[in-house]
Amino acid sequence: MNKKLLTCALALSAAMASFAQTHVMDVNTKKAGATVQNTMYGLFFEDINYAADGGLYGELVKNRSFEFPQSFMGWQTFGNVTLKNDGPFERCPHYVELGYAGHSERRTGLVNEGYFGIGVIKGEEYRFTVWAKAPKGTARIRVQLIDANTMGERQDFATAKLDVNGTEWKKYEVRIKSPRTDNKASLRIFLDGKNPVALEHISLFPVNTFKNRENGMRRDIAQALADMHPGVLRFPGGCIVEGECLDNRYQWKNTIGPVENRPLNRNRWEFTFEHRYYPDYFQSYGLGFFEFFQLSEDIGAEPLPVLNVGMACQYQNRNNEKAHVPVDELDPYIQDCLDLIEFANGDTTTTWGKKRAEMGHPAPFNLKFIAVGNEQWGDFYFVRMQKFVDAIRAKYPKIQIIGTSGPDSEGKNFDLGWEAMKRQKVDLVDEHFYRPESWFLTSGLRYEKYDRKGPKVFAGEYACHGKGKKWNHYETSLYEAAFMTDLERNADIVHMATYAPMLAHVEGWQWRPDLIWYDNVRLFKSVSYYVQQMYAMNKGTNVLTMTMDGQPIAGQEGQDGLFASSVIDKTSGTVIVKVINTNKQKQPVSINLSGIKGERKAETITLTCTDMMAENTLDEPEKIVPQEGSLNCEAGKKNTVINDEIAPMTFRIYKVKK
Ligand code: AHR
Repeated sequence: MNKKLLTCALALSAAMASFAQTHVMDVNTKKAGATVQNTMYGLFFEDINYAADGGLYGELVKNRSFEFPQSFMGWQTFGNVTLKNDGPFERCPHYVELGYAGHSERRTGLVNEGYFGIGVIKGEEYRFTVWAKAPKGTARIRVQLIDANTMGERQDFATAKLDVNGTEWKKYEVRIKSPRTDNKASLRIFLDGKNPVALEHISLFPVNTFKNRENGMRRDIAQALADMHPGVLRFPGGCIVEGECLDNRYQWKNTIGPVENRPLNRNRWEFTFEHRYYPDYFQSYGLGFFEFFQLSEDIGAEPLPVLNVGMACQYQNRNNEKAHVPVDELDPYIQDCLDLIEFANGDTTTTWGKKRAEMGHPAPFNLKFIAVGNEQWGDFYFVRMQKFVDAIRAKYPKIQIIGTSGPDSEGKNFDLGWEAMKRQKVDLVDEHFYRPESWFLTSGLRYEKYDRKGPKVFAGEYACHGKGKKWNHYETSLYEAAFMTDLERNADIVHMATYAPMLAHVEGWQWRPDLIWYDNVRLFKSVSYYVQQMYAMNKGTNVLTMTMDGQPIAGQEGQDGLFASSVIDKTSGTVIVKVINTNKQKQPVSINLSGIKGERKAETITLTCTDMMAENTLDEPEKIVPQEGSLNCEAGKKNTVINDEIAPMTFRIYKVKK
């Protein structure tokens, strides 16, 4: 082709692109279809990436009970400090004794480094508590917040004094107000005077936790969870349910009762990835099952506990059946499951309901769902699961049981998993898919093909993992939005979906992308968070049929990268249309709202960005956030029409009152 012709051809194709054909879409607002479950868009919690200790859980002291295998991990000691192990808490027996250093100018004490530092905020109060006794008469300690690395005159910037005055163990408390914000403070304790003092369960919490609970959650993180308006909260994982061996599986009974006596557990994410190794990653279980149920209630989400099925992580044990509990020894695991249901729902005269009441919640938590097994597959799982199903059905026929199809989004194990779960008649199947861009773009009709007579779907863990770019950049979040139109379109069978993982400390992560990131004093919500929130806050009550040329709009050939779905909110009479343009060109659309007539105003919510690699960060937490707007809908010949041009790589929601 000569140069002139080439220039003409390029100009023509550019012109064609800018005059892209209008995509005519039809929404039938006259017939409300399947109910969108209240549980549809939820949250998945796992203690990975320092999500519990060092994250959501408000505790600021690491290794507060000296139970880590290296007893002083997280602590510096100086002077005359002795570790002892006959403390008042049976399952956490260690404590320290601070004795006279031998000279009035010498010092005895401890410094705790927190989780990547201790985060304190200017003007906020912190509650220091400790179990203590003074065997030889009143002993005094000084408690300080310090900046050990300052070039200023003083390291300490807040101090409190505490007198310990009994020979028996007692809980003491003193409050400290921080005059500054510091992401990396430390907690220092000095012994004052000659009398020794014994200290156990040394704790520092913000007073201002979420809902002001003493053993509470970090307020900003918990608020971000509430702000997503989640329908369900799945906990406590993830692979953490299984453990790399059964020894460190998650055992809910160890996580309830007084926090001082909850035994420590090794967090399997400490060593799962050698390239991101965190030797100080343990589970204090301060955020335990009672707190999870309470958090679910606080944020308006149905609680969804996941329990171990008698199996250790299959990834880490391959085909070794010896890693799992023998089938004829499963009873204690099944009993744990039945007891959990009693803990959540039993009245206060029952053994476990009474324990819940003693923890401050006499009313039942109204548990409706229980999942058994995380990413399990094959006969090892099917045989064990059947026993759980039989036992739960026999005792609690109303509880909905969730099984798993394993870690793959499709393939042999996935198919066998679904077949087994159907045979066992579980209520929902938990599917997981961490997949690349191409999978998300080509799976727009995934759930259309599902058997309507079998169990429902719980998309329990999913996220778009960019090929070679596994972080929270804009492009992958947009593809998640596109894929989610299929969840919505198939709400008759998809009853729950939870993006994963949920939380990550910027200095302590093992896995990304994640929904919410934080350091010790700040957080940011990823673009994926906003995608989830846009769906959750606009989930409507019923699905509406929405098509283009009679076909679902799911990025199919000829649909120019458009994905769309629609719902109606019957309570407010609002039609909600979601359109995602995954094309790098803008796309004109004309959306007929059959059943609505005349001119209308549509409220819009738009998520857009021109830089596909861009992401929100701690320094720019609101770089990419949804923008609210409006547009006028036209009175078409037959019905109201939304005429719009959707920018490249954009997610837009339209809301029109009927
Ligand atoms: O979300 C991180 C991990 O991914 C979960 O623990 C596990 O279930 C999945 O493999």
